[in-house]
Amino acid sequence: MNIAIIGSGYVGLVTGVCLAEIGHKVVCADVDEKKISKLKRGQIPIYEPGLEELLEKNLKNKRLSFTTSIKEATKKSTAIFIAVGTPSKKNGDADLTYVENVAQQVAAYMDDYKLVIEKSTVPAETGKRVARTIRMNLPPKYRKSNKKVLEFDVASNPEFLREGSAVEDFMNPDRVVVGVESKKAEEILREIYKPLKPHMVVTNIDSAELIKHASNSFLATKISFINSLSQVCDRLGADVLKVAEGMGLDKRIGRAFLNAGIGYGGSCFPKDVDAFVRISEKAGYPFDLLKEVRRINEEQKASFVKLVEDKLWIVKGKVVGVLGLAFKPDTDDMRSAPAIDIIEALQREGAKVKAYDPVAMANAGKILKKVTFCRDAYATAKGCDCLLVLTEWEEFYKLNLKKIRSAMRQPVLFDGRNVFHDKNLAALGFEYYGVGRGTIEK
Ligand code: NAD
Ligand code: UGA
Repeated sequence: MNIAIIGSGYVGLVTGVCLAEIGHKVVCADVDEKKISKLKRGQIPIYEPGLEELLEKNLKNKRLSFTTSIKEATKKSTAIFIAVGTPSKKNGDADLTYVENVAQQVAAYMDDYKLVIEKSTVPAETGKRVARTIRMNLPPKYRKSNKKVLEFDVASNPEFLREGSAVEDFMNPDRVVVGVESKKAEEILREIYKPLKPHMVVTNIDSAELIKHASNSFLATKISFINSLSQVCDRLGADVLKVAEGMGLDKRIGRAFLNAGIGYGGSCFPKDVDAFVRISEKAGYPFDLLKEVRRINEEQKASFVKLVEDKLWIVKGKVVGVLGLAFKPDTDDMRSAPAIDIIEALQREGAKVKAYDPVAMANAGKILKKVTFCRDAYATAKGCDCLLVLTEWEEFYKLNLKKIRSAMRQPVLFDGRNVFHDKNLAALGFEYYGVGRGTIEK
């Protein structure tokens, strides 16, 4: 099928490349000229394992192309995915400016049947607004007062991929959710995803939109639950890892997303929880549970900072080493990374911060000021009064801790992701603080 993807960021690019890989003819569009010219050369502007290889392959076999022209993308395609950003406004609402803008532009170039698909995460009822926007912006010959009729459909097809495993998630989805209002739209979406043989959930547009916000909010709730539990574990001398294991073996609960740490970050959970709180509020239901999820997430970062400050005693002038900056491993994405809040809070108290991340330092450097970036974990540890683990990169599990210990001025380790939970840190000479390991006197 001929498919257009408008918006070639994390989601648009992965969607476009993967749809080409499964046999479709895909054109990806974006307003960002630099991004598009890089992509045309086969280079990806983000760090995402496995993506560049598939990009190169599908550029070569000509199933994938890139453009800055929405006109070209629209004219070439039957199915048009909108994959632009939906950031938070100050009041927590999703800002749908980019979605409206794309709907207006696509409409203006429509001259035969098109299925316009929301891939971006959008609040319930956005589908109706997109359809109305398209109707009002069709070429003049198709507008209501005129005789000619142009058939089109709007559908919702939310994306559930995770950064760092985006290709794998797209190619092996737990489910594909499609919200449709016509048989034709359903058939087109079934055909698009047929090669993946997915479990399809077919529903109306409002329900599909809700499934996305509800899923992210539920996952965020699981994280805040385990983070609250970690606080109780610390106070009672219990081990949150064992508690999570014991809970998670119950199939009704599941072990996934029960990793206690320094809180969730990224471009989606914080914004989507905010948006869902607002959606519910506007619908007349104050979703207080989610407000608490959000508060617990902020509190988790603050309590980690408090612990570091308490153990350092005098923070001013102390050298703090940070291992891991990205909001999670296997990505260079720094959007709402907990590391930002934690580092800035310690800097406000006068700490000098050194840091290392395998891939996110370039992006971190655009956000964090006065941080000394180091070439590896050992260089970071050198001369530090304490070391903070803020992202659980695979390479940190393999560190030579003796070498780390001897490089540090004071061997104090704050493990915000419980990376070293199975190591005997005391025997190695460390004063060690994990999250929820029952080792912290309050
Ligand atoms: P992004 O910021 O990485 O990419 C958005 C892209 O849209 C940018 O390249 C931008 O230049 C482009 N754009 C903006 N206006 C445009 C226009 N008028 N025409 C063409 N291109 C335009 O964002 P993202 O992380 O890919 O997220 C996109 C949407 O997908 C959001 O709603 C997000 O919540 C959702 N989502 C993201 C993820 C994820 O892991 N990042 C996963 C699932 C869903
Ligand atoms: C998340 C969802 O998992 C995807 O399904 C969804 O498509 C995406 O948001 C989105 O809508 O954008 P992502 O943000 O890439 O994906 O990463 P996750 O693996 O979900 O992690 C999010 C945050 O939660 C990270 O900061 C991570 O460290 C934290 N987390 C995750 C925990 O603190 N504990 C856990 O047990 C799991």
